[in-house]
This record gives sequence, C-alpha cells and structure tokens, in this order.
Amino acid sequence: MKQHDPQLVDPHGRRFPYLRLSLTDVCNFSCDYCLPDGYQCSEKKQFLTLNEITNAVAAFADLGTYKIRLTGGEPTLRKDFVEIISMIKSTPGIEQIAVTTNGYRLEENIESWVEAGLTHLNVSVDTLDAKLFNSLTGHNRLKKILAGIDKALKLPLAKVKLNAVLLKGINSHQILEYTGLIRNKALSVRFIELMQTGDNLEYFKRYHVSSQALKNELFSNGWTEKLKDIASGPAQEYVHPDYKGSFGIIAPYSKSFCDSCNRLRLSSVGSFHLCLFGEKGYSVRHLLQSASQLDILKEQLIVALADKPKAHFLHQQNTGMTPNLSTIGG
Ligand code: 5AD
Ligand code: SF4
Repeated sequence: MKQHDPQLVDPHGRRFPYLRLSLTDVCNFSCDYCLPDGYQCSEKKQFLTLNEITNAVAAFADLGTYKIRLTGGEPTLRKDFVEIISMIKSTPGIEQIAVTTNGYRLEENIESWVEAGLTHLNVSVDTLDAKLFNSLTGHNRLKKILAGIDKALKLPLAKVKLNAVLLKGINSHQILEYTGLIRNKALSVRFIELMQTGDNLEYFKRYHVSSQALKNELFSNGWTEKLKDIASGPAQEYVHPDYKGSFGIIAPYSKSFCDSCNRLRLSSVGSFHLCLFGEKGYSVRHLLQSASQLDILKEQLIVALADKPKAHFLHQQNTGMTPNLSTIGG
C-alpha cells in the first residue's frame, strides 16, 4: 500500500485525507428530512466552475488528500459532471473518486462515470417500498434506481453502497428486506441516523431513532462487527458469513463519533468547512482563480484546520449553520 503523508492534521491528532466536495446545492428530489418543499432557488447562486474545482482539487491533493467525494444537492445534475470526474482522475495523488447520488440518472449514466474514473458509488435509497419511496422523495423511481445499482455492481467499481437514513416507523422495521437485497450482492447498505439540521427540527423529533435496536437485531441474526482500520471513517461495519454484502451504521449521536473524523468539506460556492455542523465556513473562492494562488490557498487551509473542534455539538441541539444537508453536502 502506498504511503500517504497528509499535511492536513488538526490539533486533536486527526488526519484528513478525504475531501467532500459539493458541486451544487440544486436537487431534483424533495426528501422529507432534507428539502421537503424541493429545492428553492431564491437567489441565483454561482456554483464553482470547472476551473475553480480544478484548482481546489490540486491544492488538496498536494496536501495529501487521496479521496474525493462529489456531493450536492445532487452532484450529477451538473452538465460538466463527467468532465469533473476526468479532471480529478488526472490529478496526481487522487486515488479514489466517489459520488453520493440520489440515483436519478444512474442507470443511463453510470457507465460513462466509471469510464471517466469514478471508483466509489453511494446511492441513497431510504426505503425498499416503492410507494413509500415515492412519498418520501417525490419520485416514483425506486425500481429504476435499484436497476441502476445492479448495473453498477457489474462495473469495475471498488465499492457500491446504498445509503438509508434510519427513520422511525418508515424503514426502522424493514431491515429484513435490506438483508434480502444483499444476500447475493456485494453491496454495502449503510444506515445513517437522522441528524437534526437547522430546518428539520419537527421532522427530527418525530422520526429520529437510535440505531441501537438495529444493532441488536443484526447481532441476534448472526451479524458481527468488523474490526475497524485506522483509515476508515466513522461508520461501523457488520458482516455475516452467509451474505455477500455488508451493513454499516453511522451513528452521529454515539459517544466518540467524532474521534475518527477523517473528512473536510468544500461547499459548492467555495467555502471550506471543518465540520458538517460548524458555525462558519472559510471562503476560499478568491484563491481558486489561478494555479499561481495555490501556495497561499494551501497555507490558509492548514491555518484554518487549527480551529477544528474536537466534536460537534449536536447533543446540545446546536446544528451550527447547516439549514439542511443540500447546502454543504451530506
Ligand atoms: N440526516 C442524516 N442523513 C441525511 N442525509 C441528508 N440529510 C440528512 C439528515 N438530516 C443523507 C442523504 C444521503 C446523504 C448525502 O446524506 O440521504 O444519503
Ligand atoms: Fe436531494 Fe439528497 Fe436532500 Fe434527498 S437528501 S433532497 S436526494 S440532497
């Protein structure tokens, strides 16, 4: 394995080889916990251009970043999405290019994304019930999205994951349906505990459920915790000898969750975020205009990291400046 030398380290000893890069706030879905009324374009935002993204990626790669996840909103709505993947693929040092998508155009486009250099795919599927899926997201597309996932599983991707936000009474009882899906598929299903954001307090109160019951159910069905390696992020993986796929649980409210934080974020308008739930972003867009500014940009990123808090304050209902996850990427 190649040695990595991340220069992005924080005062708590954590290293950050992983950048989540938001390409747009726009999303065509209206998930109840995120954008219940759909994306509202109040002011016309100018999202980062390909040139600005190129400079950002170059700076992070120089600082030891080797994994980039493209997020949004819905990142695949960008017209230049394939070009962005190709550009990142040609950036020295970047080994993994991931995307988190709602899967809207997955089936049609996954081949071109993989050809361009995509290595990791996460698709959000919060329920396997077609009717519920429709009412949760506003799109009657579950079957097509699952067909897209099947297609992706046949392509040379390093990993394909399905994300499901754990929702009380909606999918918290559907675990067995997910197990059916992964018996013979090398698919990793990750349950993410619902997080409170600035906009979703009422929804959060009603639908948040801890993942403890889910864990117990997995244990009693013969699933075991996989040992974590140091480079892995905050998810806990579960495996079973009879299943080709695996489960993962992301429990942001659990003790020590932030200890294994390995990621930083750049928003779609060029603001650098140390935490999903931080109070502020550091605007670096003015330093993304030309390659000649990269040294200053790198210096500022390193300086900003000195402020990274040890943990989020979600337990105190402090959601920072994040109204919903479409604004700085989930
Ligand atoms: N809590 C947990 N997960 C969320 N996501 C979006 N909003 C929330 C929230 N409030 C998830 C999406 C997707 C990923 C980008 O983040 O469902 O899987
Ligand atoms: Fe769109 Fe993702 Fe938010 Fe759903 S969770 S509305 S797919 S950004």
